[in-house]
Amino acid sequence: MKNLFLILLIWAGVTSCRKKENLPSYEYKVAIPAHFPALPFPENNPITLEKIKLGKLLFEDKRLSKNGTISCVSCHFKEFAMTDTAKVSQGLNGFTKRNSVPLFNLAYHPYFFRDGGAPTLEIQVISPIEDHIEMDENILIVCEKLNNDPQLKKLSNEVFGTDFTPFVVSRSLSTFIRSLISGSAPYDNYLEGNENALSAQQKEGLALFKGKANCISCHSGFDFTDYSFQNNGTYASHSDKGRQIITNNPLDEGKFKVASLRNLSYTFPYMFDGGFETLEQVIEHYNNGGAGHWNQSDLIQPLGLTTDEKEALLAFLLSLNDANFVTK
Ligand code: HEC
Ligand code: HEC
Repeated sequence: MKNLFLILLIWAGVTSCRKKENLPSYEYKVAIPAHFPALPFPENNPITLEKIKLGKLLFEDKRLSKNGTISCVSCHFKEFAMTDTAKVSQGLNGFTKRNSVPLFNLAYHPYFFRDGGAPTLEIQVISPIEDHIEMDENILIVCEKLNNDPQLKKLSNEVFGTDFTPFVVSRSLSTFIRSLISGSAPYDNYLEGNENALSAQQKEGLALFKGKANCISCHSGFDFTDYSFQNNGTYASHSDKGRQIITNNPLDEGKFKVASLRNLSYTFPYMFDGGFETLEQVIEHYNNGGAGHWNQSDLIQPLGLTTDEKEALLAFLLSLNDANFVTK
């Protein structure tokens, strides 16, 4: 079983220095599959176990919102690969503009949000806190609230050598997000050499994915995204301008970051507005060659898939579900 591939393993070395303070000792590991690149992180925010742990606590903490009712988990549930099941999500002051996204393998993304509006995770994680619709809280008040909790304040000091500041909140939340790795689906097992991890139908689906259905021209690489911005023609027209909001370039109208195709059984509904409920609908959409938005990518063309081929493609997509990620 050499396939249990732990390349990066960070073990908690906290027991010795923590004992006297009676904090729970813990172990945490970030396991990177062998066919993934090494886990990248910024030089000024190295990954440590303590930071991941603190980030996880903050991720679950409702004090990050103005009235104490919303945490990051409210829209990012573990059992749904860190997204939710709503078309758009209920925040503190109404509904989000877009469908919530799953959070895994984000360490490898070059920018964040569907329109790429946040250049780093360190910046991204502050925005839901300050966003009027989502959590509507001032980051400085969040720090005050957290510093009023002696146990948590102590933790901040142990990890960062200071009370809570926006720096501490940003660095720990982003490190937690960076530690969320999903790469143990049946397809990964297949890549590691287990021929039987995929059924014959799934192998046929994989061939279609790379060939006739041409999904791979955008959904490529170990995480099934090339991270580019594309208009995949979900609608003939729609008001969300996507990437254009950031660049102000009309040629970016309706473009969104290519989504990963891992964990699709948990991440429904699909697309920027949750417009598709099922994967069958998504496949039908691509098979029809998109809805014909004026800016739709030329890569979206009618595919002429037979019923059997659509079923095989679907079966392959389901081999990208990582049950470990949503349960452990
Ligand atoms: C009210 C619902 C809601 C809450 C609360 C919320 N999020 Fe999100 N999150 C979203 C939505 C919706 C998106 C997609 C927005 C977009 O792409 O334009 C998103 C996107 C993200 C992304 C970008 C992922 C990517 O693929 O680019 C990250 C990271 C993230 N959220 C982390 C967090 C963190 C950390 C918190 C808590 C501080 C949080 N979210 C709280 C709804 C929420
Ligand atoms: C031109 C590039 C392109 C091609 C080709 C393409 N896609 Fe996509 N795909 C995208 C983009 C961009 C998104 C994200 C759209 C959004 O956020 O609204 C996406 C989203 C998806 C989603 C939704 C993921 C989610 O979590 O919401 C699925 C499923 C999907 N594609 C499957 C496929 C399949 C199957 C094929 C081949 C038949 C394919 N795609 C071909 C660009 C492409």
